[in-house]
Amino acid sequence: MPSNAIQAAVAALQNNEIVAMPTETVYGLAGNAYSEVAVQKIFALKNRPHYNPLIVHIKSAHYLQQVAKNIPVVAIQLADAFWPGPLTLVLEKQDHIPDLVTGGKNTVGVRVPGHPIALELLEALDFPLAAPSANPFGSISPTTAKHVADYFTGTLDIILDGGSCDKGIESTIVGFENGEPILYRQGSTKTEDIEKITGVLKMRVHANNESVVAPGMLSKHYAPSTTTILTDDITSDIQKYSDKRIGVLQLSPTTLPSFVIAVETLSQTGNLEEAAKNLYAAMHRLDHQNLDLIIAQKMPAVGMGLAINDKLERAATK
Ligand code: TXA
Ligand code: MG
Repeated sequence: MPSNAIQAAVAALQNNEIVAMPTETVYGLAGNAYSEVAVQKIFALKNRPHYNPLIVHIKSAHYLQQVAKNIPVVAIQLADAFWPGPLTLVLEKQDHIPDLVTGGKNTVGVRVPGHPIALELLEALDFPLAAPSANPFGSISPTTAKHVADYFTGTLDIILDGGSCDKGIESTIVGFENGEPILYRQGSTKTEDIEKITGVLKMRVHANNESVVAPGMLSKHYAPSTTTILTDDITSDIQKYSDKRIGVLQLSPTTLPSFVIAVETLSQTGNLEEAAKNLYAAMHRLDHQNLDLIIAQKMPAVGMGLAINDKLERAATK
């Protein structure tokens, strides 16, 4: 029997309302993916441009055919390997998926989320859930219910609290062009793990005003309002800005000069999975300290370090 909170969320979703739900990556703003009314509300809440499509969340790979068609064999292999989990597949859409969900594209992004609350919601519903990250467009993604409440109190009635998200950064996105898998967004499923199935993945390179394949690729994204710089050499960059109110975002403990006002250490042991999990909460905290500058340390370019660096680069883009 679902809890009262989940029952209330189910009723709201059936009524075309929007609900914040936890996933294993970040919190999402969920609505009935088949309802233009609900999807329109998601765009309005997020202040998100309509060209930027939403990910459709389904309860299991078994339901994939209901939202996508002409699915490449390798996509099925990826779904079998990584779902439920942080991998989004961009596939040819079924006709009944509203254009509003897909930003007018003939493709749809789809995944099975790996969080018990998200799965429980989906189990109780007879439609899939469109859900972008639960943050206003362009700002830092939420990894706790409190982050969501800070953004949307007053405009969003139901926020399901599922604790801190396990993975901490968004799903990895893979699309298919002429049957060939292409990496559209780095995320919580490691590229090297996907490549065990696909072979070496091509990556969509992009610059800001070029036509955007996955708008999570917009170079400015995931951004704190505080100016952020990304560096290989924290020690010398800190010295350059010693007259400023500085916050530091670092992987593991180091000795820092006393004029540094705020320090966020992502993992005591330098573990990159743990660092990913802590990344956005650390960025939220630093962003609330009235700093002149956040100096972020580049992660080692392996495993989850690649996805963390990608998010930090976007946070640091002017
Ligand atoms: O981990 C996640 O993926 C989270 C949780 C809530 O599931 N969701 C998320 O959604 O990050 P959002 O809207 O913040 O980012 C979705 C990304 C966007 O960059 C969007 O452009 C891309 O997915 N996307 C969705 N559908 C697409 C499509 N048909 N073609 C290309 N990119 C697509
Ligand atoms: Mg987002």
